[in-house]
Amino acid sequence: MARIVYVNGRYLPYAEAGVHVEDRGFQFADSVYEVCEVKSGALIDTTRHLARLDRSLAELKIAKPMSDAALRHVLAQIVRRNRVRDGLVYLQVTRGKAARDFLFPGETDPTLVALARPIDPYKVAAKAKSGIAVKTVPDPRWGRCDLKTVMLLPAALAKETAREAGAQEAWFVDEKGFVTEGASSNAWIVRPDGFVLTRPLDNRILGGVTRATLLDLLKAQGVPVEQRPFTVPEAQAAREAFVTSASATVMPVVSIDGHKVAEGRPGDLTKRLREKFHDLAEITPV
Ligand code: PDD
Repeated sequence: MARIVYVNGRYLPYAEAGVHVEDRGFQFADSVYEVCEVKSGALIDTTRHLARLDRSLAELKIAKPMSDAALRHVLAQIVRRNRVRDGLVYLQVTRGKAARDFLFPGETDPTLVALARPIDPYKVAAKAKSGIAVKTVPDPRWGRCDLKTVMLLPAALAKETAREAGAQEAWFVDEKGFVTEGASSNAWIVRPDGFVLTRPLDNRILGGVTRATLLDLLKAQGVPVEQRPFTVPEAQAAREAFVTSASATVMPVVSIDGHKVAEGRPGDLTKRLREKFHDLAEITPV
């Protein structure tokens, strides 16, 4: 559990940390966020996360709360103060507090919150060893999934549906039958001919930081990649499948809607990519 939380310039005990009831993040989901991996006491891919945060903020015309150097300082502080070696940092920026009105308020200071919490690396390793099951659901989300907003109700509902079906992640499927992405991850398959497939970036998916770094790794490893949408039957007939996210890095998928992927075990390429991921990621000791 997080013990110390950063809220608008103050490091507060968890129980005392809060934002205003008329914060626009609370009333309108007028807010963006980032989740960064912390591994062995270092932040992973900070530059890419901060670049994506900048883009989300700019697209929504939310003021940047502080410089990148200051944000890096807050991230490092929150990891240190919570003594997190392996886990996550969560950073959220809202448009700030204002009397409830759909229109943007004139001048408001953005709200900035950051917290860090540990994740047991052995539990994650055990999950990666067995692989996860995926349940597919129709994608009901809005047309700007490329922005990392906190409008996460469709993802929460999809994950509940997945859990009810005994699965650990949901894959959203668009109206043409193509997988868009996971509820909180990007979706990938390895075709029987060895090509790695993932959906190209568009407004239906989030440009995952892990996705970008994995594309670098695939290139460095000489693995052929095709960025194109794939269907659920294609995924079920794949040689391997996996998801990527800051919280799971490269996580094998061993079944889709109860249908085993290949032998129903994590694939060799997926395992190799998981092992090598941090060789290529940007590592910032805190
Ligand atoms: N989720 N797609 C969606 C919808 C996501 O929510 C996420 C990340 C990703 C992967 O992005 P990245 O590789 O940058 O983590 C793709 C985070 C981990 C979360 O909400 O907890």
